[in-house]
Amino acid sequence: MPRRNKITVVGAGNVGATMAHWAVQKHLGDVVLVDIKEGLPQGKALDLSEAAPVMGFDCTLTGTNGYDETADSDVVVITAGVPRRKDPETGEFTSRDDLVEINRKIVGSVTREIAGRSPNAVLICVSNPLDAMCHVMLAESGFPKERVIGMAGVLDTARYKYFISEKLGVSVDDIHGMVLGGHGDTMVPVPSHTSVGGIPLTELMDSETIDKIIHRTRKGGGEIVGLLGYSGYYAPAASVCAMVESVVRDRKRVLPTACLLNGEYGYENLYIGVPAVLGKAGVEKIIEMKLGDKEKEMLEISANAVRDVVKLLPY
Ligand code: NAI
Ligand code: 2OP
Repeated sequence: MPRRNKITVVGAGNVGATMAHWAVQKHLGDVVLVDIKEGLPQGKALDLSEAAPVMGFDCTLTGTNGYDETADSDVVVITAGVPRRKDPETGEFTSRDDLVEINRKIVGSVTREIAGRSPNAVLICVSNPLDAMCHVMLAESGFPKERVIGMAGVLDTARYKYFISEKLGVSVDDIHGMVLGGHGDTMVPVPSHTSVGGIPLTELMDSETIDKIIHRTRKGGGEIVGLLGYSGYYAPAASVCAMVESVVRDRKRVLPTACLLNGEYGYENLYIGVPAVLGKAGVEKIIEMKLGDKEKEMLEISANAVRDVVKLLPY
């Protein structure tokens, strides 16, 4: 009997549980939720399962504090880790890069547990600092680079598109564009490749307004932390769901994905966000866009910011 796709989500917190919610609602496959907190993944899985008769999905959900239930997953999403939080005393919120030490240990141990049990899975990293954590997952899994990828560009691009649609008062469906680079304040929205219903963005908006949108996109994660006191999860979960869907349904969507570059865009052995074709095999192709001189310069700044964090890793 053919089996459904199996999707494991490690970390049943805000992003993980919301991702599970949308995955079953979209009938993407059976979901296994894993977390170290006892009761949390079981409770989330049961609560979501009880929604099935109302929402009309057949996918099953399993919550566990172990890894045996994850065996033979098709896709594994790793959200385990500590998120950015606002310090109640200073009002400062944790930078993504400050999370590197604690999250590399968590992501490393989770990856080892997963890799042995699901040797053919596509691994999608969500934990921050995103690009550096992809390096951890690649090293600890021993998987080929095509099957170790990161989610950030889909989220950053979603924010960029939303801000453009809001400003122009047009449907988000008609905004096309992409944000490249590392998941940090130096990320690279690319206005030269952004269009609205096929019309170049630069014909519809002056450069000052575009610059304001670029600035807001780069600070998009922090804007949510500033409002909530912890990081966003609806848009991040929706974004990782789009990547999972492209893999399990072999849709071959072109999505901005943190990929290990080996020569593409002139970078060696570095994870940063670039357009990639995602299918059953993971990254099936990296697409090299033509960038202007200013965009290349911005990508270099972003790549250097990622390198500074990757340097802290023991690989
Ligand atoms: P959260 O705190 O709500 O959830 C994290 C979960 O991981 C918790 O339930 C925690 O118990 C679990 N966990 C911690 N250590 C674990 C371990 N060793 N094994 C299994 N589970 C473990 O945090 P949230 O908001 O879901 O964020 C998760 C991560 O994703 C953070 O690192 C955050 O910065 C990152 N993030 C990344 C985004 C991106 O665009 N790449 C967007 C949003 C969040
Ligand atoms: C975000 O961009 C915190 O990386 C996370 O929302």
